[in-house]
Amino acid sequence: MTCATTSEVKQFPEEFTLSKCHDAIFNSEFKNDILLFYLNTTYRALVTAAELLRQNTIFVFISVILVLIIYIIYKSFWNPILYTKELTEIGFEHIKSGPDRALRIARAQNARRLGSKVPPPYPNGWFAIVESSNLQIGGVTPVDALGQNLCVYRGEDGVARCVDAYCPHLGANLAVGGNVCGNCIECPFHKWRFGEDGSCVSVPGLEHAPRGISIKTWPTVEADGAVWIWHDAEGREPLWGLEDAPEVKKWGYRGRNEFIISAHIQEIPENGADVAHLNAVHAPSLLSQLGEKYPILLNFIGRHVWAADWSRNDDHTATMSLTHDYKIMKLNLFHVGVSVTQIGPGHVRLYLQTPGGPILVSQSVTPIGPLLQKVVHRLYSPTYNAPVGGMFVKIESYMFERDVAIWNNKRFVSSPTYVRTDKQIKAFRSWFSQFYSERSLTFRDAIQNKLDW
Ligand code: FES
Repeated sequence: MTCATTSEVKQFPEEFTLSKCHDAIFNSEFKNDILLFYLNTTYRALVTAAELLRQNTIFVFISVILVLIIYIIYKSFWNPILYTKELTEIGFEHIKSGPDRALRIARAQNARRLGSKVPPPYPNGWFAIVESSNLQIGGVTPVDALGQNLCVYRGEDGVARCVDAYCPHLGANLAVGGNVCGNCIECPFHKWRFGEDGSCVSVPGLEHAPRGISIKTWPTVEADGAVWIWHDAEGREPLWGLEDAPEVKKWGYRGRNEFIISAHIQEIPENGADVAHLNAVHAPSLLSQLGEKYPILLNFIGRHVWAADWSRNDDHTATMSLTHDYKIMKLNLFHVGVSVTQIGPGHVRLYLQTPGGPILVSQSVTPIGPLLQKVVHRLYSPTYNAPVGGMFVKIESYMFERDVAIWNNKRFVSSPTYVRTDKQIKAFRSWFSQFYSERSLTFRDAIQNKLDW
């Protein structure tokens, strides 16, 4: 191949483009020579690479292992795993793809029967509204939760606070454009300021702030990596306290997952008492979906085997003990013991004893709307098993997605046909009813007053 191609190039029209260049070369009389040249070069490059690999096998092998170890250490210690799934991403595989799929999913959701005698959507208790790490000193963020529009901010003293979003003056949203001044929140519209107790402390142009003007403040604490507010339909002070689990202070944060789920809040913790669903929904191996299609293959791929027991305590807590084994035929490859504490309606702590060491999963369930929940799992583990902790963020997510697919499509059944294996569900419902009170907003009112003009 000589300068012939150069002369060809000189004849290219002025409006030279890559595709024209491609056509010119591959339609020219030299096209076979050019193809041979490329094939020959590729072949020689591959042979050289193979030879280098053969001569330096050990070096290459060690390099790959080292890169892998560095990657795992980096992900485990400095880059927590974050895994998020939106409502439309799980449980709608039966709705075929297409440009209007989102619309068809929304239609399926709207057509879904909600069930009868659905309990109040916002029980009394603590609910996580924002990640602590996402709220810096002087930071303000809007939050929609419990059917409310809220303004969450962190004062100069480092304390997280939550107030109703709308300013009592002319209704501006404090969380959108509002400023933190000391420990006060300042409205973006006319710069009125509201203090720690919600009362108006200053109005530009006035010597004294008007008396009796205030915004609602919400009892707020920080625990397990999140900011929580107390919701109580009766307006009572918190009925129980909330603080970090001791392990959150001692261990490292390994990551979180987040799911938006269309279900009543009660359905999610009820899963803990629904022991029968474990071996029905969570038995197929996470390693391959083939086992779900062809159950015979589970003998070779393996299956998850579960045993659990749920019991109520005499207060706002309930406990569950759970064992998980991964079995191939009779061979038990992997055992995890889990001790679970449900704390009120929106908080669960799961202590996992894995072969790689202990892990704490702190789960929060926050009602965004009557049938819309945000579920977050935050994982912590000691330093020595940081990679295992990180790995469990994903494992736990994949297992949880199976429940999400059910929740996103089911309706609430107030009077189920209980069988012997369901007796703990009945006990759970009786225990959970303590979080509803006389003034709890009814489900009907909550869905009818979606837009409070
Ligand atoms: S609307 Fe907030 S100060 Fe006027």
